Formats: sequence, C-alpha cells, structure tokens
Amino acid sequence: ELGEHRHYMHKEIFEQPQAVIDTLEGRITQEHVLVSSFGHQAEALFESIERVQIIACGTSYHSGMVARYWFEDIIGMPCQVEVASEYRYRNPVIQNNTLFVTISQSGETADTLAALQQVKKLKSKKNIPTLTICNVAESSLTRESDLTFLTHAGPEIGVASTKAFTTQLVALALLMTSVGKVKKMMSVKRETIIVKGLQKLPGLVKNALAHEDTIKEIAQSFADKQNALFLGRGTMYPIAMEGALKLKEISYIHAEAYPAGELKHGPLALIDENIPVIAIAPHDDLLEKLKSNLQEVKARGGQMIVFEDEMSNISSESGFRVVKTTTNVGRITAPITFNIALQLLSYHVALIKGTDVDQPRNLAKSVTVE
Ligand code: F6R
Repeated sequence: ELGEHRHYMHKEIFEQPQAVIDTLEGRITQEHVLVSSFGHQAEALFESIERVQIIACGTSYHSGMVARYWFEDIIGMPCQVEVASEYRYRNPVIQNNTLFVTISQSGETADTLAALQQVKKLKSKKNIPTLTICNVAESSLTRESDLTFLTHAGPEIGVASTKAFTTQLVALALLMTSVGKVKKMMSVKRETIIVKGLQKLPGLVKNALAHEDTIKEIAQSFADKQNALFLGRGTMYPIAMEGALKLKEISYIHAEAYPAGELKHGPLALIDENIPVIAIAPHDDLLEKLKSNLQEVKARGGQMIVFEDEMSNISSESGFRVVKTTTNVGRITAPITFNIALQLLSYHVALIKGTDVDQPRNLAKSVTVE
C-alpha cells in the first residue's frame, strides 16, 4: 500500500496535488465558485450571516487561523477562531447571524463536537447556521451540522495531519469566496482571480515538493538540535505554527512559532547558534519588515533557514540558508504552498532523529476523549 514510500506521512505529503484536484472537483467552474457545493441551503444561510466563528483543534485550528486573515482582509467580514477546548468551557458570547464553522479531519474530535452541540442549544433564540469542513462523510460532525463541506483528501493514516490540512485550506478559500459572492462583498473579478489561482494550486504544490532534496540536506543540521523557532507574518504566522506543531509531533524537537513582529518582546532572548530559526518569507507587503526581523536574529548568531518565493530576494543576503520554494504566489495559494515545504522539513528531521514518523509517541489519530 505504501508503494515507493517509507511512511504513510511521506505518501500523504505526495498525494497533495491530487487531493487538491479532488477537493476542487465539482466545486468550481472555469471562473466561478459553486456556492451550492456547501449544500442547497447554503446560499440562503450565507445571505443571512454577518460574521464567522471558526472552532477546531490542532492542525485544523491552524487552517482556521489562516482563513481568518482571508475573511477579514479579502471580503471584510469579521472572523474569529478559537480552539474548541477553550471555547466550550468559557461561556463565549455568540452574536446573532454568526456562521459557526467547525473544521476537522476525523469529524469525531470530542472538544470540537462538544462546542458545536453547545452552540446548537442557542439556536432557537438566534440565527447561527452551522457548517462543518470535514474529511469523513459519515461522522458525528457531519451528522450534527446544518451544512457539510467534505474535503476529499482521502484516508489519512499518518497521525500527523498533512493532506487534510491542505484540503481544509482549499475548502476555506472556497467558503470565503462563496460568502463574499453571496453577500456581494467580493467583485466578480476577484472571484475569478481566486478561482484561477486555485486551479494553479496542484502545480504549485508539485513544484514545492520538488525541493525535497534541498530540504533533506537542510534537515541534517537538526540532528543535534533540541529547539527550533518558526517565524512568519500575516497568513504565514499560522503556517509557522503548523510547521512548529509538525516538527514537535514527529521529531520531538521543541518548536515554537512566533509572529516575527513579536521577536523583540521576548523570544529574541533565546537566540544563539544552537537554535535554528525557520522563517517563511513570501514577497508581500510585510517582507521588508520581516527582513529586518531576520537581521536581528542574524546579528545574534542565530542559524537561519528561509523559505522564500522567487521575488523575495533574500538569497542575496549572506548567512542565510535559503530555499526558493515557489514562484510569486497569491494570498490564497502562498500559505498552502509554503506549508508543503515545512511538512517535508519535519519529515526529514524525524527520519534523522529515528522517531516513529507515522505513530508518534503519546498521540492518537483521532482524539475522541477530552
Ligand atoms: C496534528 C494533528 C492534530 C489534529 C487534531 C484535530 O498533526 O493531527 O493536531 O489536527 O487532533 O483533529 P481533527 O482534525 O480530526 O478534528
């Protein structure tokens, strides 16, 4: 079943171009999103909402965090994201006309399900339509939600989530575009730009996978490391969080993610030659600010590994290991594409550490108890 792959995680990383194709199939036309792919009631329900609340755990939470940037930046709709285990116990205030979105690979995560059930109790008083973005058709979350959008990632066997995350991001991009379209918060031109970008995504993912040999070589330098710091800004901050989670899960290296602008507020004290710093540096509005953050790390002897696109031009600055990960990608495709490189990094570091990649110690694939 593994074919040429040593582990399910590696197989699943390489299945991602197809998983993206499968998740887009039947959900877009050449130029438009098909709102009805969220269910036949979707158009009416989206029409009625004014904000979005996303709830999830772990990796699925990180996809929600990326989506928050998209909802607020691209269509100007308020969007909040929270981990289910906090949300369910803190008596949150949920406003009328909120689209309540759960994200889950398994559809069985106990805390996510409990948060949904709690919100459903308020439904008689308020308009709170519920949507789940889920990879398992017959699951508790799909049964309990008004609307279901299935990510067509296929079965994910490796405990560390890879292709499920990528397809969740595709689903969230389609959701943001659909809501923007129905609410007239997005122009037809912008919708078409996003759809065209998504059509290019399988190819972009494939190109990112082609950097495996370079990334494998970089992974060697983690052999004797106990800590790592991941930095990003904007949508790359949650991608940094996901990169750190993946590294700690499968290689047992302590990894943390910070929004790069927070460096001065504490984490800079950690920097010395023993801590690799991984930065995600697309050519965007925050690149110059990120570059100065990186200089601060470099000045303190930190070992820097930078994932950039063809326009970022960090390669010219000496002292950084730079991986030209992708072409200059858009706001939707960039976080998805850069994450692929970080998955490969974690995988190859884990191989060097000799850990059980598909079954990391202490972890279960589906967390059905608190
Ligand atoms: C990390 C990972 C976990 C899951 C989390 C939520 O690689 O797999 O953090 O993302 O347990 O699981 P689902 O998405 O099934 O609700």
